[in-house]
Amino acid sequence: MAEASKTASLTIDGQTYELPIHTPTVGPDVVDIRKLYGQANVFTYDPGFTSTAACDSEITYIDGDAGILLHRGYPIDQLAEKSHFLEVCYLLLYGELPTADQLEDFEHRVTQHTMLHEQMAFFFRGFRRDAHPMAVMVGVVGAMSAFYHDSTDITDPWQREVASIRLIAKMPTIAAWAYKYTIGQPFVYPRNDLDYASNFLRMCFSVPAEDYQVNPILSRAMDRIFTLHADHEQNASTSTVRLASSSGANPFACIAAGIACLWGPAHGGANQACLEMLEEIGTVERIPEFIARAKDKNDPFRLMGFGHRVYKNFDPRAKVMKQSADEVLELLGIGDNPKLQVAKELEKQALNDPYFAEKKLFPNVDFYSGIILEAMGFPTSMFTPIFALARTVGWISQWKEQISDPQLKIGRPRQLYQGMTERDYIDVENR
Ligand code: ACO
Repeated sequence: MAEASKTASLTIDGQTYELPIHTPTVGPDVVDIRKLYGQANVFTYDPGFTSTAACDSEITYIDGDAGILLHRGYPIDQLAEKSHFLEVCYLLLYGELPTADQLEDFEHRVTQHTMLHEQMAFFFRGFRRDAHPMAVMVGVVGAMSAFYHDSTDITDPWQREVASIRLIAKMPTIAAWAYKYTIGQPFVYPRNDLDYASNFLRMCFSVPAEDYQVNPILSRAMDRIFTLHADHEQNASTSTVRLASSSGANPFACIAAGIACLWGPAHGGANQACLEMLEEIGTVERIPEFIARAKDKNDPFRLMGFGHRVYKNFDPRAKVMKQSADEVLELLGIGDNPKLQVAKELEKQALNDPYFAEKKLFPNVDFYSGIILEAMGFPTSMFTPIFALARTVGWISQWKEQISDPQLKIGRPRQLYQGMTERDYIDVENR
């Protein structure tokens, strides 16, 4: 980090402290409070990290007010249109777009690691059949540390690289098998002659009795969904991965922690919740009723797929996703899909409603993704596992960045203690 060229003054009880201000390549300045506790014996208070940068990073930049998302400087809409998932993986992991040779080599390395250790098939079988595929993924990814001992030494750059490739390569197999297991079908093994998205679709939808011909339109749409979810800066699951990794935990355990965090409906679980909400609304006539509920302070209901901690403008990924939904449903001959009609009308009515305008609530990436995934044949329970599969490269890139930093410190937030002060123990008969 470069020397700070500006400072902020903070006065507490008449004593002034000078705090360095760091200027990023783009985005708001950052006040450095690392020495504040040592100098002034005060903590800062920011639950939910609304104003706190927990790390410095060179991977992804978001301007939430302008609706901008850049990976290594490249805008997400350009990547979604011109690039593809594995190229974006390379970009996130290594910082630059690959040359043709680098890309070929990278794709080869990923393709050669798609199979799981055969013993893992038995591990899957320990789950109940009705387990949610996210539960299976948390368990299986965490268990990878028990199967791949040769890539858990985080001090060895080569082992870190092997673990990264393994996770990216095996995640489609894990997600597809989690799905197959819950529907009682045999596991389908990966095929290395297929591209990343086609391979995943085939492992999900092929059965031994009948092979699955991958529709290139669906494969392209799948790849775009992966690309749009690849990374998103210091969101809750990424911060979870970073916090877990700060203690020196192995990469598989850290990614399992990220998957657990992603599962929640305020984060990755929103795509499932959004589709369920569209289903519940059912027809455009019922939209005003649901908008009224979302605005009612006494009703916990929220419009799923709406609002974002960082975007106070259109989520740039939502625009691409909406276009993809139109294309996919049209090409599948289901352009009049009722959920898509409800989603479009709901978006229109919410955007014209002062409540949503004042609170700067816009559709997020999850608003349209569920509609596409459902049209492809995925049940809602698979939406979040697909998000986890795609986000793995983001988690891994952020993990690698953090672990390579010689300044790495264990993450240890402070607290504003509001509990009892010290008091004496009372024997049970006297309480
Ligand atoms: N519907 C109705 N009202 C909403 C919504 C919504 N979807 N989102 C926020 N609000 C309201 C809140 O009630 C609050 O109102 P108040 O100021 O009167 O109390 C205000 O907008 C701010 O909301 P917060 O919860 O404080 O905003 P925060 O930044 O903490 O939350 C979040 C962001 C969690 C995404 C929220 O907008 C939400 O719950 N959205 C629905 C779930 C969703 O779609 N999540 C996906 C996020 S994207 C992703 O993870 C890929």
